[in-house]
Amino acid sequence: MDRTHVAACWEANAETWTQHARAGYDLYRDALNTPVFLANLPPIAGLRGLDIGCGEGGNTRKLAERGARITAIDIAPTFIRHGREAEAQAPLGITYLESDGTALPFADESFDFATAFMSLMDMHRQDLGIAEAARVLKPGGFLQFSILHPCFAPPNRKVLREGDGTVTGLLISEYFSDPAGAVEVWRFGAVPEHERAASAPFRVPVFHKTLSEWVAFIVAAGLVIEHMAEPRIDPETAAREPYLADTLMAPLFLHIRARKPAGA
Ligand SMILES: C[S@@+](CC[C@H](N)C(=O)[O-])C[C@H]1O[C@@H](n2cnc3c(N)ncnc32)[C@H](O)[C@@H]1O
Repeated sequence: MDRTHVAACWEANAETWTQHARAGYDLYRDALNTPVFLANLPPIAGLRGLDIGCGEGGNTRKLAERGARITAIDIAPTFIRHGREAEAQAPLGITYLESDGTALPFADESFDFATAFMSLMDMHRQDLGIAEAARVLKPGGFLQFSILHPCFAPPNRKVLREGDGTVTGLLISEYFSDPAGAVEVWRFGAVPEHERAASAPFRVPVFHKTLSEWVAFIVAAGLVIEHMAEPRIDPETAAREPYLADTLMAPLFLHIRARKPAGA
């Protein structure tokens, strides 16, 4: 699947994704993934940052609220429209641009840091996504990104639950498969029944890569890994959101921060 088809899939997802994410149905993002990502983010106040694959901009705004001057890009125009509308209602100084993360419209060494919340894995060429992020970073700048965990969330991860929802195990397979953009159909797990009837599920092209392939992309881009995280819920969150208990069995997400050497 090429860039055009990926963009078309995400554009078709964007309206419902925005509504459902803003309604709080992306539980993994809101209760686990973003809080851990932000807890591990170095200070960014006053820095110029790029948020790659920003979606509707919920995470982008959290970066701006920390005092960074943010440019945010996404391949789907409807996401960019929603980001701009939010910016018009409550300005944070964010510039939203429709753009492809594998061919960024910025000069070399334009940004102090870059983030990519759960977007690099959705690109049709993750190697180019990382290389482009590295290119636009200033020497000494960092890229921090989250992805589905390559080892524990390959194309097939099934959470085994009992009737009351208790997680009893995971079935994980297809680690070495290359779906090459095969479309997965799903919704956020917390979407209530009445909203399911009113909206189509997401259609997401999948481009799984193994852990060693991800590391090879980072190395080829000239970046140096300095931090990794594998978020799991704490006991309080487990009590509040038992649906996320699969992350106690094996992580769903992998976070990496990699830096462009100062002398690069
Ligand atoms: C799982 S969503 C994450 C959205 C957002 N970062 C968040 O955390 O809510 C993945 C995003 O990557 C975007 N995306 C996919 N391929 C892209 C590409 N080549 N360039 C830019 N964005 C892309 C999609 O449009 C979508 O908004």
